[in-house]
Amino acid sequence: MHARYGGVVPELAARAHLDAIASVVDEALSALPGGWSDLSAIAVTRGPGLIGSLLVGTAYAQSAALARGLPLVGVSHLAGHVYSAMLADESLQPPYLALVVSGGHTDCVVLRDHGDATQLAATRDDAVGEAFDKVARMLGLPYPGGPAVQRAAAGGDASRFPLPRTRLEDSFSFSGLKTAVRYAVRDLGPSQLDANGVPRDPQTVADLAAAFQAAAVDQLVSGLELALERSDADRIAVVGGVAANSALREAVRQRFAGLKVVIPPLAYCTDNAAMIAMAGWHRLQRRGADAPGFEVDPGLGEFA
Ligand code: KG4
Ligand code: ZN
Repeated sequence: MHARYGGVVPELAARAHLDAIASVVDEALSALPGGWSDLSAIAVTRGPGLIGSLLVGTAYAQSAALARGLPLVGVSHLAGHVYSAMLADESLQPPYLALVVSGGHTDCVVLRDHGDATQLAATRDDAVGEAFDKVARMLGLPYPGGPAVQRAAAGGDASRFPLPRTRLEDSFSFSGLKTAVRYAVRDLGPSQLDANGVPRDPQTVADLAAAFQAAAVDQLVSGLELALERSDADRIAVVGGVAANSALREAVRQRFAGLKVVIPPLAYCTDNAAMIAMAGWHRLQRRGADAPGFEVDPGLGEFA
C-alpha cells in the first residue's frame, strides 16, 4: 500500500489499521485455547508514532478492556523495542545496554531496572533506518529500503566508494553519510545515470549499497562501544527494525565477543505486538493498570 509512495502515508495507515484491527486481534487470539478468556491484561502502544494509528489502537484496546473487564496498560513503542530482547532470551534481565535502531530512532539506552531507563546517546539528525530508506531511493531500490540495501550490498565491494566515518562521543549522525552517497552517485556523471538519477549499472548500485551499509554499521558499533564504556552494563541488546540487518548483527557479535549479546530473531526486531505485551506486563506489575480513557502521545520518549 505504501510502497508506491516510498514511505508510510499517515492517512492510509490509519484507515488500514481501522480495517484490519479486529480481524488481526481475532486471528491472534485464535491461537489460544480459551481465546479472549485466556487473557489477564491488555497492553497497547500509546506512542510515539502516527496519531491516527495510535488512536485506532488505543480506542480498540480501551473498548476491549472495558467490555472484557481486563486491566489495560499504555506502553511506549520504544520500551517495546528495549523489552523485545527479553522475549528473545528469557534469562536476560536488567541492567543491560540496548542499541535501539529503527526507522525513527538511533539510541543507546541503559535499562537499569524495570521501568528505569537512561538514554546515553541519540542521533543528531536522521535515524539510521531512515538513512537506509533514503539511500535505497537514491539507488532505485524498493521500499522498505533496509532489506533491499542489505540484499544489494551482498554482491557489492564496500571499498570501491570510500565514504566518511562519523564518530561522535555521545551521539550518532547519518545525514553526512547520506549526503556522501548522494555525491558519489552524482559524481558518476550523467551518462551513468538513468532519467531518475539512479545508477544504471547494477554492480555500481551493489558497491554503493555495500559502502553505505559498512559505514553505517561501523558508526553504530563504535557508538555502542563508547556508550558501553560510559555505562556499567556488561550485557548488550540490539533491537528495532535495523537490528534485522545481518552485517550489523555480525559486527556486534564480533566486536563484543566476550559479552552477553542478545539480538532478537527477525520477527522481534521489526515492529511487533509481542514486544508491547512484554513491556506492558512488566509495567502492569510495577505500576498497575492505567486509568481508562488515557490519551495517546505521538511524541512519547520513554524507553521503559
Ligand atoms: O522498528 P521498525 O520495524 O519500525 C520503526 O519503529 O521505525 O524499523 C523499521 C526500519 C526501516 O527503516 C527499515 O528500512 C529498517 O528498519 N530495516 C532494516 C532491515 N530491515 C528493516 N534496515 C537494514 N537492514 C535490514 N535488514
Ligand atoms: Zn519500531
